[in-house]
Amino acid sequence: MTQNRIALVSGGSSGIGFAIARKLVSQGMRVIITGRRQEALDKAVAALGERATGIAADVTSLPGLDNLFAQVKATFGRIDTLVANAGGGVHAPLGQITEAAYDQQFDTNVKGIVFTVQGALPLMRAGASIVIVGSTASIDPGPTMSVYGATKAAVRNLVRSWVSDLKGAGIRLNIVSPGPTNTESLREAFGDHAEEGLAFLTCKSPIGRIGEPEEIAEVAAFLASDAASYVNGVELFADGGASQV
Ligand SMILES: NC(=O)c1ccc[n+]([C@@H]2O[C@H](COP(=O)([O-])OP(=O)(O)OC[C@H]3O[C@@H](n4cnc5c(N)ncnc54)[C@H](OP(=O)(O)O)[C@@H]3O)[C@@H](O)[C@H]2O)c1
Repeated sequence: MTQNRIALVSGGSSGIGFAIARKLVSQGMRVIITGRRQEALDKAVAALGERATGIAADVTSLPGLDNLFAQVKATFGRIDTLVANAGGGVHAPLGQITEAAYDQQFDTNVKGIVFTVQGALPLMRAGASIVIVGSTASIDPGPTMSVYGATKAAVRNLVRSWVSDLKGAGIRLNIVSPGPTNTESLREAFGDHAEEGLAFLTCKSPIGRIGEPEEIAEVAAFLASDAASYVNGVELFADGGASQV
């Protein structure tokens, strides 16, 4: 039963997060989306309709997250479904890794996940569930994505520990790890080499294509739902098999 559940999707203003928010709205949930850019949030909320609310928050800022959860508590009182999705990666081969890119990826993909989940927990009760958006880079980062892969491997290990920390709470916690998925940020990450990059990923895929955000949203919605009531602590790859070959 998803009707009237309260969901929070970090980074819900575009790409995979937006598709997840749209899926949860279609299931009758009230969905709060976050992101840093107010304009992108407003556009996404307009597209999602009246069951969606946008709150600007940067997951790398603890005061920003405190403010977010204070607002959610005051307006909605609780969170039934948390989707910790905000994140991203930067291509750089060894020898060209900058401190700024390292800090940005670890701050967003690791610190951001730690304090998003920890901040939401006081608003979650038995029956709630958490879905973290990881990446196949956790096991198969490929060339130029070492730092990004390290952040996603860190998230996988956080979850291994957290399922024990949450023992008895009645709150499930799982990861959906997408393979290459058709979002603006995937293209941007390849810079001037987008077409070659996408062709390489298509060629590598056992099913001969990259994924669509809606396909990741289906998996996230499953993990969040009561249909997955006995699924806890897994990393579920939604990648057409690309990370397994
Ligand atoms: N696309 C892929 O091929 C792919 C594959 C595997 C995994 N993933 C993972 O899927 C997730 C979403 O990626 P995407 O491709 O959908 O990216 P996207 O289209 O760039 O969306 C990222 C979202 O996160 C928000 N965001 C970024 N940094 C943030 C921050 N510091 N605080 C709050 N919000 C922030 C962005 O909004 P603002 O910019 O306004 O903050 C945006 O809403 C990420 O965790 C990524 O690692 C993506």
